[in-house]
Amino acid sequence: MKTHSIHVCRECGATSPRWVGRCPGCAAWNSLDEEKVATRAVTIHSPVTVALHTVDGEDHERLSTGVGELDRVLGGGLLAGSTTLLFGEPGVGKSTLALMSLRALALNGASVLLIGAEESAGQVAQRARRLGDVPVGLDVATTTSVATALTLIDERRPRVCVIDSISAMSDDDLAGVAGSVAQVRNATERLCAAAKTTSTALILVGHVTKDGELAGPRTLEHLVDTVVRIEGDRYASLRVVRALKHRFGPTGEVGLLEMANEGLRDLPDTAVALRQPAEDVPGVVFTVTNDGSRSFLVEIQALVASSSASPRRVAHQVSSQRLSLMLAVLEARCDIDVSGLDVFSATAGGLAATEPGVDLALALAVASAAVGFSVPRSLVAVGEVGLAGELRAVSGLTRRVREAQRLGATSVVVPRAGELEAVEGVRVLRCSTLDEAIAVAREGAVIGSRS
Ligand code: TYD
Ligand code: MG
Repeated sequence: MKTHSIHVCRECGATSPRWVGRCPGCAAWNSLDEEKVATRAVTIHSPVTVALHTVDGEDHERLSTGVGELDRVLGGGLLAGSTTLLFGEPGVGKSTLALMSLRALALNGASVLLIGAEESAGQVAQRARRLGDVPVGLDVATTTSVATALTLIDERRPRVCVIDSISAMSDDDLAGVAGSVAQVRNATERLCAAAKTTSTALILVGHVTKDGELAGPRTLEHLVDTVVRIEGDRYASLRVVRALKHRFGPTGEVGLLEMANEGLRDLPDTAVALRQPAEDVPGVVFTVTNDGSRSFLVEIQALVASSSASPRRVAHQVSSQRLSLMLAVLEARCDIDVSGLDVFSATAGGLAATEPGVDLALALAVASAAVGFSVPRSLVAVGEVGLAGELRAVSGLTRRVREAQRLGATSVVVPRAGELEAVEGVRVLRCSTLDEAIAVAREGAVIGSRS
């Protein structure tokens, strides 16, 4: 077979026929590697036109994956002929989620196929048994060959096919090991094309490297129709699924799942934080964070401890930049100095809360830990904190306050600025500055202890 060279960027996957010092795609320096690719015969198709009035513009039927939260993220389910990339860090639950979908589909009578490139049929069967009875129609093929996978898809025409994982697939006609940019791109391109011609809904499982990038080529994202990421802290059971790209539906939609003994469980309700014991303790403040079209109640925790050497700043599932900012504002504007102390902050339950609307709760949690007062659980704080210590309006405030009220909050501390529709059953405490909010929260603590 004839081959020719292309140069592929390690960072973004852009290609160039010649070697250049700077990537034409992402402008990274010295990031191009030479790869040999097979020269394919070029077929010239005659142009084809179609009378638009004959084209059915209807939304196509969505195939439920049987996992409610995944369906939500996909805008209802999988689409025939489309390719979905499902990626996340090792151990987050990609294989479990893919297998659960196939199992539910098979139980519903759909023809499904799992192409396992990393595990033996025995290992897959073991995982399947954890999920419950293994339905008869759930077939597994173990291969790493793209050609074999294409033949299987073409012959069996499954309605849904999972490739676990795309990084382990390789094409013998192509130089380079499995997982290389050229191999992964080629496998993705050919499998996507097969999905279209056979009307198979294809799910490709993808690995991310330790720095969170999709193994090698970010350009995979351009080749597939939908990109879904599974996020989660591996020490917690909570998992967030998120559509980063969706050609046929909304992007940015999030789903919540919980890793249990028998697979991933839908968590349509997010009262995760309220499961904790109900005692008010210093350093704990509740907030509501907006993500996609949803609002989540989150418990922000802070701990302040004397430091022996250089003070530590630990932010887990909250933004470390925003934590630094809050500490500086607390010192400069509120006379609460923690500069010589260790400060630890985290969310309880494993849901990340990194957007600016969380600032106020984070600052209040640190203040409450440092000063030693507790904020009642019935009080929820929402707001961005500026460098001057001012509280700034946040997006979707009404939605947040409604969620807080629904989950039991009786009062909310919010910025003075910003639109807020009336929400019944909740007292709205508007504040202009962080200092004022601290005073209100402390007063809330006193009122809370009286009632
Ligand atoms: P897995 O789906 O293999 O992750 P990935 O494919 O993303 O690498 O699952 C990873 C973890 O999930 C593994 O540590 C075991 C755990 N797990 C459960 O807790 N319950 C289950 O029912 C299953 C199948 C897995
Ligand atoms: Mg896996």
